[in-house]
Formats: sequence, structure tokens, C-alpha cells
Amino acid sequence: MNAANRPAGYSGLQKLLHWVIAVIVLVLIAVGVNMVRRGLATNFDAVTNQLYTAHKTFGFLVLMLVILRVIVRTRRGTPLPEPGLSRLQVIAAEAVHGLLYLLLLAVPLLGWLGVSAFDARGILGGFQLPALLAPNPDLGKLILKYHGYAAFAMAVLIAAHIGAALMHRFVLKDGVLKRMLP
Ligand code: HEM
Ligand code: HEM
Repeated sequence: MNAANRPAGYSGLQKLLHWVIAVIVLVLIAVGVNMVRRGLATNFDAVTNQLYTAHKTFGFLVLMLVILRVIVRTRRGTPLPEPGLSRLQVIAAEAVHGLLYLLLLAVPLLGWLGVSAFDARGILGGFQLPALLAPNPDLGKLILKYHGYAAFAMAVLIAAHIGAALMHRFVLKDGVLKRMLP
């Protein structure tokens, strides 16, 4: 897409998807870490199992929303970088956003692959996610280990991303944060 036909700003749908996905992902990271600890401490009591079910359901929802978001982004494009940023700032922001998109797809996909191999596909409402792999608990454990590592990498990037947004707002006092606000 050349500069002339890039939109002036993010659309309402792009902003809505950014914030809905952001909130769900932050909760999923907190719930994910806690449910794993709780499972070890309680040998998987009923509450732990409910946390796992909710985690899988909302994680799958994130995957669907991110696919929609990538389609919207491909069709509509994104605004040019905020004027006044250095080349290095633009490259750093684009690298972090690109990695975030990659992980927003990879993390839930690894979760789905993991629970497929582990044969624990139940989600809220008594539904089952479709199986992507044949049952193989050892493989399931391995995939879920990488699901956890990828989620921690995403948490680090999110911290940098939020830190950058706050720095733009309160230190540099430029218009970057406003671009994503309603
Ligand atoms: C963006 C979406 C997701 C995020 C950010 C996320 C994040 C996390 C985190 C932080 C953990 C804890 C890892 C650990 O402490 O070792 C975790 C564990 C887990 N996640 Fe997710 N997750 C997501 C999507 C999914 C999906 C879609 C599924 C399955 C359909 C899933 C299934 C699991 C399972 C089964 C565990 C427990 C692994 C274990 O017991 O070792 N997650 N997730
Ligand atoms: C308090 C939390 C957050 C704030 C203040 C924030 C702020 C922003 C801002 C201002 C932008 C626009 C940057 C620009 O192009 O000028 C942006 C873009 C983006 N944010 Fe966030 N964000 C937050 C949380 C998150 C989280 C949790 C994720 C990932 C799960 C995320 C993923 C992204 C991505 C992928 C983009 C690139 C959008 C695109 O160009 O398509 N953000 N964010």
C-alpha cells in the first residue's frame, strides 16, 4: 500500500479489536500462570478445572479475533507512523507490533495443538474444540511447555509495548497513544 491511500487513523473496529484482545490476553496470562500453580497445589480441584476450561475458551476466542484483526488490517491498512518519530523509533515499534501479531497467533495455536494432543479439548458450554492432532500425552505436554514459554515472551513484549505507550504519553507528550483511543 503506498502512502497516498493509507488511512488517516485506525478505524473504530481496529481500535475495538485492539482493546478487546488486549484485555482478554492480559487476563489469560494471569489466569494461565495461576491455574498451573493451583493445579500443582490442589491436584486439580474443581475450581482449577473451571479455570482451565475458561482459559481454553477465551484463548480460542482470541485466536478467532486475531484472525479477524489481521484480515481487517490487510484490507484497510494502517496509518502512517506518527510524524516526528525517529527512524529508529518507527523500526522498533514495527518490530514489536510484528512480533506481537506473530505471538498472538502462535500462542493460542500452540495451546489448541497442545490440548488436542493431550486430549483435553473441553471448553465452556460443554463443547469440544476440534482435534488438530491425534492423542499423544507426551507430545501434548511438550507443546504446552512451549505454549507457556511463548506466552511469557509475549508478556515481556507487552510490558515493553505498554511502557512505550506510557512514555509517549507522559514523557515525550506526543500523539501516539491518542491514535489507539476511541
Ligand atoms: C492468547 C491466548 C493465550 C495466552 C496469552 C495464554 C497464556 C498462558 C499462560 C501464561 C499459561 C501458563 C504457562 C505456565 O505457567 O507454564 C498457559 C497455560 C496453558 N494454556 Fe494458555 N494461553 C492462551 C491460549 C490458550 C489456548 C487457546 C489453549 C487451548 C485451547 C490454552 C491452553 C493452555 C493450557 C492447557 C495450559 C496449561 C499448561 C500446563 O498445565 O502446563 N491456552 N497459557
Ligand atoms: C495498556 C495497554 C496498552 C496500550 C496503552 C496500548 C497502546 C497502543 C497504541 C497507542 C498503539 C498504536 C501505535 C501506533 O501505531 O501509533 C498500539 C498498537 C498495537 N498494540 Fe497496543 N496497547 C496496549 C496493550 C496491548 C496488548 C496487551 C497487546 C497484545 C496483546 C497489544 C498489541 C498491539 C498491536 C499488535 C499493535 C499494532 C497495531 C497495528 O498497527 O495493527 N497492545 N497499542
